[in-house]
Amino acid sequence: MERTLIILKPDAVQRQLCGRILSRFEDKGLKIVGAKFTQIPRATLEKHYSDHQGKPFYEGLVSFMSKSPVLILALEGKGAIAVCRKMMGATFGSNAEAGTIRGDFGISDSFNLIHGSDSPEAAAKELGIFFQEGEIVSYDNISAPWIYDEDELG
Ligand code: RTP
Ligand code: MG
Repeated sequence: MERTLIILKPDAVQRQLCGRILSRFEDKGLKIVGAKFTQIPRATLEKHYSDHQGKPFYEGLVSFMSKSPVLILALEGKGAIAVCRKMMGATFGSNAEAGTIRGDFGISDSFNLIHGSDSPEAAAKELGIFFQEGEIVSYDNISAPWIYDEDELG
């Protein structure tokens, strides 16, 4: 099982799409193991987006991400990082595939509703930025034996 960091961005919160987006992940079988509704301080965004520092879109991105509260999630499941990236769709709403979150709910390239970790290394870094020790919760999900077979559950 793998964990990934998802952020429902300011446009998802302001457009009141959080429930519909979160439902997609729950419907898929991903398990919520952490959640936080908060406005992210600039200093934290600078850590989170350190790889993008210096890029032309960096300032606009940090400003957009700090403009409103966001819903930060830790999701767990088999191949969760890649599964969530596929469900999110391509970066830009204008060319994200229909059936994906960005493809179905938005058309802007910068207001693209959702962030998801793009590798195991990024997930470890990002989960560490947004969740303190003990804020990610391990628990038994009663549906697990009907979501996964015995071998997958280990
Ligand atoms: P994310 O990190 O938010 O999950 O998105 P991503 O991997 O698909 O895209 P990434 O290349 O990491 O870019 C991070 C965010 O920056 C904004 N962006 N704007 N105007 C532009 O050229 C541009 N490029 C990127 C988007 O909000 C993107 O999600
Ligand atoms: Mg990215």
